[in-house]
Amino acid sequence: MLTKEEIIAYLQTSDEESQKELFEKASQVKTNLLGKNVYLRGIIELSNICQKDCYYCGIRKSNKNVNRYLMIEDEILKSAEWAYKAGYASIVLQSGERTDDKFVRTISDVLKEIKKLSDGKLRVTLSLGEQEKEVYKCWYNLGAHRYLLRIESSNKDLYHFIHPKEYSFEKRLECLNNLKEIGYQLGTGVMIGLPHQTYEDLANDILFFKKLDVDMVGMGPYLEHKDTPLPDKDTIIVKNKEELYHLGLRMISVLRLTMPTINIAATTALQALNSFGREKGILCGANVFMPNISEGEYRPSYQLYDNKPCIDETSTECLDCVGKRIEMIGEKVAFDEWGDSLHFRERNC
Ligand code: 5AD
Ligand code: FES
Repeated sequence: MLTKEEIIAYLQTSDEESQKELFEKASQVKTNLLGKNVYLRGIIELSNICQKDCYYCGIRKSNKNVNRYLMIEDEILKSAEWAYKAGYASIVLQSGERTDDKFVRTISDVLKEIKKLSDGKLRVTLSLGEQEKEVYKCWYNLGAHRYLLRIESSNKDLYHFIHPKEYSFEKRLECLNNLKEIGYQLGTGVMIGLPHQTYEDLANDILFFKKLDVDMVGMGPYLEHKDTPLPDKDTIIVKNKEELYHLGLRMISVLRLTMPTINIAATTALQALNSFGREKGILCGANVFMPNISEGEYRPSYQLYDNKPCIDETSTECLDCVGKRIEMIGEKVAFDEWGDSLHFRERNC
């Protein structure tokens, strides 16, 4: 177990040789324990309608430059069925946050239908924000197995700095605890390189994941969106995109050393900084890839940050591309495998 000071030292590593050593160490830990399998989660961005107004996010409700959409149920199911037939054993339903009854019912109906169309064989992860415990329970009982809810930053002051003041840090923690108690495989994450964020904050984020004993983490660099108001950009700890990219990779490696058996995603935000970003994420210790499987017309309207990759591609193109990219780095796509984290399997036996 690394101490906070050791984590900070790793995160601050700036010389190339030590950084390379860190990446290799994390990759070795991953390969020894989890092999060279990369698990796929096809992500359906089913709606960009959001009741929240987070200062960093391109689909925040105050952004009037977004064409709002909600996929109809048939479109969501068509994407899910396509994914199932293409060998994705696992999909993620992600959306802007909504808590109204109509939305909750739509998700419930979709979950029932996905179960039917895949004979219960398609694993479903939800990434639908803060909801009432009863709603989480209902979706779990309808077959959702995993839930992703990023804490965004485990530093309460920073959490408040990047969100409207009435948003509650405690409520978010409560949601995470509720999800765990219900039995979901739990995923969380943070943004890296936020204004006012320090190396100590990032080390605390890693220790927060450890304390919460999560099964999976998806974290990535904070990237600006032109229509968002997050202030104080000159307080970011890295000077440029290149440094941000490497800090994102070091976070993955240090997390792999700290929590060797969890699932860690190589997020799309990494690829926004470097065209080889997600592959490099895998080589630094991540083991999950989340290709977009939303159909074409909606992709440009789900831009959480500027220059999001893959908005002109189709689901088939992304799948082909991902297969080649993973093969190119000598890893193997684990088609037709649920890919529950070893951490989750261990804590349940
Ligand atoms: N840069 C990077 N990540 C972002 N997210 C939202 N906006 C941005 C941004 N500008 C992330 C948040 C959220 C996830 C779905 O996307 O962490 O939880
Ligand atoms: Fe979408 Fe490569 S993953 S184009």
